[in-house]
Amino acid sequence: MNTAAESIIEVKGLAKRFGKVIALDGISFSVKRGEIFGFLGPNGAGKTTTIRILTGIIVPDAGDASIAGIDIQRDPLNAKMRIGVIPELGNIYVDLTARENIILAGRFYGMFRHVLEKKADELLKRFEIYERRNDPLRSFSKGMKQRVNIASALVHDPEILFLDEPTSGLDVQSQRLIKGIIGEINRKGTTIFLTTHNIEEANVLCQRVGIINKGRIASIDTPESLKRTFEETRSVTCSFDMPADIALFEGNSLVNRLDRMGDKWRLYTDNPDELVKYLASRASEQGLSFTSLEICGASLEDAFLRLTQGGERHVS
Ligand SMILES: Nc1ncnc2c1ncn2[C@@H]1O[C@H](COP(=O)(O)OP(=O)(O)OP(=O)(O)O)[C@@H](O)[C@H]1O
Ligand SMILES: [Mg+2]
Repeated sequence: MNTAAESIIEVKGLAKRFGKVIALDGISFSVKRGEIFGFLGPNGAGKTTTIRILTGIIVPDAGDASIAGIDIQRDPLNAKMRIGVIPELGNIYVDLTARENIILAGRFYGMFRHVLEKKADELLKRFEIYERRNDPLRSFSKGMKQRVNIASALVHDPEILFLDEPTSGLDVQSQRLIKGIIGEINRKGTTIFLTTHNIEEANVLCQRVGIINKGRIASIDTPESLKRTFEETRSVTCSFDMPADIALFEGNSLVNRLDRMGDKWRLYTDNPDELVKYLASRASEQGLSFTSLEICGASLEDAFLRLTQGGERHVS
């Protein structure tokens, strides 16, 4: 089939409920061979549920998913041979050493011992944990455990790597190393599917980003265009000791949108720095004192609202 050559993951109408909770409400998307596809969404959006279905851990209530043209429900074993998974809560054994963990992972895929040992050492070096290879993971930091996790998922050279929030809660050095490795693996031809809360991470790493919220895809787009949406949802919130005249904000070219929240004003802007300076000068002219003033970064929730207001947008 023509599309199979282009897209390596195909998802159509996937739905999953847990009791009364609708985790996935009929999502459809595809991932192209060779790309880094980011799945961005807040807590409970359905990211992990999607990964667990795509990696054959749980079955959907409805819909289809295929990996490299193989139906994940009809032929799960074959599909699983082509993927590596770094789950949300890790996949490692703390009583084993770093090297033993990687070797154990390779044995699940039926790799020969001598190939596997060579590969394990290669991965340990690449992940900068070779010196600690014979220490049990119990003694490793979170970032180092995550490196072993990723190394174990790569041992059989998978076509697709699934990573569920790979850098969440890690120190900056481990984050940087892991992002670098994700980029490197991708340049060597592995397709990457990763979930994240982090807009910046999605921007830096991904060629396309799907935004999921409450079990629905709000948008699939390029990071540049999503970034624009996020930038437009930056804001400044402030309040004064006396009621401020709305004329202070209205009609100002720096203010894209204005919300009143109790005694606070929320001013959406592309340029928070300029707006704060403007507000300070006007407030002092009018004898107003700030009781609060805060620059709020782009919020995922605001961006979702914007993206969903215009209906679904898809860029292929
Ligand atoms: N095994 C389960 N039993 C009951 N409810 C579940 C189960 N797994 C997921 N859910 C619910 O389904 C929804 C989606 O959860 P999911 O773990 O997919 O979200 P997520 O996007 O990965 O969130 P996070 O960013 O917090 O990891 C949530 O409301 C969650 O509580
Ligand atoms: Mg999750």
